[in-house]
Amino acid sequence: MKIFKDIYEWKKFRNSLPGSLGVVMTMGALHDGHYSLVKRSKDENDYTLCTIFVNPTQFDRRDDLDNYPVTLDSDIAGLEKLETDFLLLPNFKQIYPDNYTYKVCESEFSKILCGASRKGHFDGVLTVVMKLLNIAGARRAYFGEKDYQQYHLIRKMAEALFIDTEIIGCDIVREKDNLAMSSRNMKLTENGRKLASFYANAIRCQSKSLDEIKSELENNAIKVDYLEERFGRRFAAVFINGVRLIDNFPLNKD
Ligand code: PAF
Repeated sequence: MKIFKDIYEWKKFRNSLPGSLGVVMTMGALHDGHYSLVKRSKDENDYTLCTIFVNPTQFDRRDDLDNYPVTLDSDIAGLEKLETDFLLLPNFKQIYPDNYTYKVCESEFSKILCGASRKGHFDGVLTVVMKLLNIAGARRAYFGEKDYQQYHLIRKMAEALFIDTEIIGCDIVREKDNLAMSSRNMKLTENGRKLASFYANAIRCQSKSLDEIKSELENNAIKVDYLEERFGRRFAAVFINGVRLIDNFPLNKD
């Protein structure tokens, strides 16, 4: 795997690379959910680029950014095992030469669900993804549907701004007990992990009302940010011992 730290070096290299490129953007702390995106990109493109950049502008809380897991050595080992072609590791100065004075904003769908409680979160996400799409020069970009709202906003941004890269949503990868894979899961304590398992299954129950499920979660010391149904899907965000976990799934039609 060829590793690039300089975005201009990458762009020059990309311009001389024949064939199709798929990109998987990440903030590191890679798990099987990320690796499934890399595998899909490898299946569908001649080359695959993974990017790792912990994007500060999408964190609404400083402590959340400071506590975000960083596991670069094992990320590199995991990507090498999959024979990923390229890895880009840019720094803040390179990504934000404007010091975040220019932003990409969306004014409707970004304001609900995660956007309602995480002020500025999606401005940070859309801005960095736009930059990374321009830097990557890929034919296809792969995003996990655990962050369904993020995936949807990115797809619509690409449409609205005439971006050539195809935005592809990929199924959520779950642990055996149904918990959606997330870099944040590694921050859970042993007891927190048990609660996370309880939460992952409780929110799936369609024979109880959302209010009943909310009280069940809160009675188990799980703080509910939201539990809502929209567009035929159920969406949830909770805090377990201060760790924010999100999930969503399509509702059964019957
Ligand atoms: O989903 C993520 O890991 C991030 O939000 C992304 C898309 C890499 C942008 O920083």
